[in-house]
This record gives sequence, structure tokens and C-alpha cells, in this order.
Amino acid sequence: MTDAKHWIERYRGQVDAWIERDLKRHSGLGERVAEAMRYSASAGGKRLRPLLVLAAGRYLGVAEDRLVLPALAVEYIHTYSLIHDDLPAMDNDDWRRGRPTNHRVFGEAVAILAGDGLLNEAFAKIAELADPAFESHDVLSALRHLARASGMDGLIAGQAGDLAAEHHNIDLQALEAVHARKTGALFQAACQLPAWLMGNQAAAERLERFAWHFGLAFQIVDDILNVVGDAAVMGKSTGTDAHLDKATYPKLVGLERSWVLARYHQGMARQVLGEDVGESDVLLALLDRAVERKA
Ligand code: IPE
Ligand code: IPE
Ligand code: MG
Ligand code: MG
Repeated sequence: MTDAKHWIERYRGQVDAWIERDLKRHSGLGERVAEAMRYSASAGGKRLRPLLVLAAGRYLGVAEDRLVLPALAVEYIHTYSLIHDDLPAMDNDDWRRGRPTNHRVFGEAVAILAGDGLLNEAFAKIAELADPAFESHDVLSALRHLARASGMDGLIAGQAGDLAAEHHNIDLQALEAVHARKTGALFQAACQLPAWLMGNQAAAERLERFAWHFGLAFQIVDDILNVVGDAAVMGKSTGTDAHLDKATYPKLVGLERSWVLARYHQGMARQVLGEDVGESDVLLALLDRAVERKA
């Protein structure tokens, strides 16, 4: 195994273990909601966003053990967004991470609260980093940026755009804007968190550009896999975008051109990091995984 691959496998296991340990402490009143939080957050995801936090830290020379809390924070925000994304009022999906979706098991009310619980816990995690782990003003900056990326400047705006585009013909530029927000914004935040926490503006800008292309490549492949992927391998249903008449790259430009664009963004992301020396091996390995994945 190459070093990068070894690193990824090791930290993927670590992330699973950190999540398991962290979510154990929620019990008592609201135990059903806590159980629903654990159900969706426990092993099954690729853990790409927390791995990007840790890999960006490695790139900038920030030790992994200082980034456990930000890694958990982005995975919690991501998991909350999946629980809500799957709800009947949104994409109405039955399968996620190889299991029935949260609302199918716990009901809609508990699923909504489990998502809310994970989202709020994410911000508590970042706030916990204030002195001595990182300087308070850098922690505040990270909080502000992460909240914006998860909110109306990012993920929420993208989800709103995704829903509004159902049954409509939007152009490629508009679709790119939706994908860059619903999916790309959290990838950007994941990559930028170590830079924000270090108060390193130049690195934050470089990682923002890397992750912009990363996020688009990732979501274009998500669109492609929804058409040609194997539901059993992916752990979620396929053909659902066409069923809901979602705006996607395959719908707009066809499968072949979608692949060309995914590879274009992969190449652009690679080029951004090429501008600088650093431990970019794991970031690049994660990029290749995001494009070549089957799940
Ligand atoms: C799925 O993300 C949702 C999108 C933003 C496309 P992932 O494919 O990273 O999902 P998990 O975390 O591996 O389940
Ligand atoms: C999910 O996008 C984006 C967020 C949850 C923010 P999709 O709806 O396209 O992803 P899947 O296919 O359900 O995983
Ligand atoms: Mg969706
Ligand atoms: Mg969906």
C-alpha cells in the first residue's frame, strides 16, 4: 500500500472510532433522538469530509490530534444534511449508507430532531477549540466561516436551488452554482478549517480553490453514479434523480460530457496544489478517490 492509502485507511478507522465514542455520551432525556443520531453517524460513510480536514492539516503541518473536533464537526454537519435531504419533503429516499433512511426507522419527527442535534453539536465542537488548542480569534473566524458555508451562503442555498430546479431546465452555469453550494461549500470548509484555525489566509485561499474543483468533481460523479452506479455497492438507491426530474449533469450534458467535466475539475484541483510545495499527497489521493469511486 502506498503511504497515502495507508494514511487514509488508518484515519478512516480513527474517525469511525471518534464518532462512536463521542455520540455515546448523549443519553437520558431524548434517548430516541440520540439513538437516531448514532444510527446515521455510525460507520457506513466514506468519511471524506473529516479526512479532508485531517489531510489539509497534514498539508499545512497541523498535527492530526489537534483536528479531531473539526473533523467530527464537518461529519456531523454532513450527516445532518443527509438525514434532512432524505426526508419525504425533500428527496424522499429510503436507503442511505446501506440502511433504511433515518425517518424510515425513527419517523420524521425524530429524524428532523436528530439532524438538528448533529448540526448544533458541530458548532459546539468548534467552539471547544478556543484556547489553548487554537487562538480564540481564529476559532471565532472558523465558526463564522463554517456557519456561513453550512447556511445561506452555501449548503442551504444549494439545497434550495436543487429543489427549485426540479422539473425545470436550468443552464450549466446555474447547475454549477447549485452543486458548488449544496455539496462544494462543505468540502471547502473541511479543507479550509485548519487554515482558518491557524490564521493562515494564503493557505485558506489556496485550499478554497482546490476544494471548489474537488466539490464539483465529486458532485458530478454523484450525479453520474445515480444513473450508472450499483445501488448495492453505493448503499443508496439509483435512478432517483431522473424520477424526481432533478437538474443534474447527465440530464443537462449527457454521461460522456459529465465525465469530461468531472475529470476537468479533478485536473484543475490538482493544478491548484501543484503551485506550492507541501504534504499534498493525501489531499490528491482523496481527490482521485472522489472521482474514481463506485460508492
Ligand atoms: C453524499 O455524500 C451526499 C452528497 C453530498 C452527494 P457522500 O457520498 O460523501 O456520502 P457518505 O458520507 O459516504 O455516506
Ligand atoms: C445531497 O445531494 C447534498 C446534501 C445533502 C447537502 P444529493 O441529494 O444529490 O445526494 P444524494 O444522492 O441524496 O446522496
Ligand atoms: Mg438532494
Ligand atoms: Mg438526495
